[in-house]
Amino acid sequence: MTPGHGPARHIVFLGPPGAGKGTQAAELARELGFLHLSTGDLLRAAVTEGNELGRAADGHMRAGRLVPDDLVLAIVRERLARPDAARGFILDGFPRNLAQARALEAFATLELVVSFEIDPRLVVQRLSGRRICPTCGTVYHLDSRPPRVAGRCDRDGSELVQRPDDRAEAVEVRLKVYAEQTAPLLEHYRRLGLLRGVDAAGTPSEVSARLRRLVAGAAPEARSPTERL
Ligand code: AP5
Repeated sequence: MTPGHGPARHIVFLGPPGAGKGTQAAELARELGFLHLSTGDLLRAAVTEGNELGRAADGHMRAGRLVPDDLVLAIVRERLARPDAARGFILDGFPRNLAQARALEAFATLELVVSFEIDPRLVVQRLSGRRICPTCGTVYHLDSRPPRVAGRCDRDGSELVQRPDDRAEAVEVRLKVYAEQTAPLLEHYRRLGLLRGVDAAGTPSEVSARLRRLVAGAAPEARSPTERL
C-alpha cells in the first residue's frame, strides 16, 4: 500500500523530541484499534521496574543519548510479534537511526512514515511544560493540557513529575542526537516513497485532524511525498 492510496496500517511517527508524536500516536492507535509502540515508554517502564534492560538504558536516557540498538531492537521485534500488533501498529520513537531502520525492514513492512514538522522553539516550549504521571504514563502539559487538579493525574491522582530528560541540558543533547542520527531517516524514507509530512504546530485536535486525513489516505490535495497536510 502506498501513501495516499488507502488507509495505512503499518505506520512510523518520526520527528524531534516534543513534536507531539506520543500524544497523537496514543489517540490515533486507540481510535483505530492499533498497537501504539513507544520505545521510550517501554524503556521508561523498564527503568521504573529496575530490570536488566532498565539498568542498561537508564544512564543513556537521562543524558539524552540513544540506548544501544541491540537492546531496542530486541524489544520491538518481540512486541510486534504479539497478536495485538496484527491489526496495525504505530511506531513512536522507533526507528531512530539508519541501522534500526534497516533492521526493522527485516521483520516488518511499513506503509507510511509521518514526519512531524515543527519549529524547534515550539519543541522547547512543549518539553519544558511537559509533566507525566509516573503511575499510568499519561502525558500533560502545564499550558496546553493541564490536569484538572494542579500537579495530580486525572486518572489515578498520582503526583505528576518532570521527565529527567526534559531538563535543559538533556534536551540540548536530544535535539543534537535527533539532527545527527534520526533526521537522515527522512531522506531514507523519502527515497522509499513512504514519507509524508504533517504540520505539527497548532492545537492537539488540529494536528490530529490532519493526521487522520493523512492516515486514511483521504488527502487528494497532497500528492507529493513530502507535501504537508
Ligand atoms: P522518547 O520517549 O521516544 O522521546 P522523544 O522522541 O524525544 O519524544 P518525546 O516523548 O520527548 O516527545 P513526543 O514527540 O512524543 O511529544 P509528546 O506527545 O510527549 O525517547 C526518550 C529516550 O528513550 C531517548 O532519548 C533515548 O534515550 C531512548 N529511546 C527511545 N527510543 C529509542 C530508540 N528507538 N533507540 C534508542 N534509544 C531510544 O508532547 C510533548 C509535550 O507537548 C507534552 O506535554 C504534550 O502534552 C504537549 N503537546 C503535544 N502536542 C501538542 C500540541 N499540538 N500543542 C500543544 N502542546 C502539545
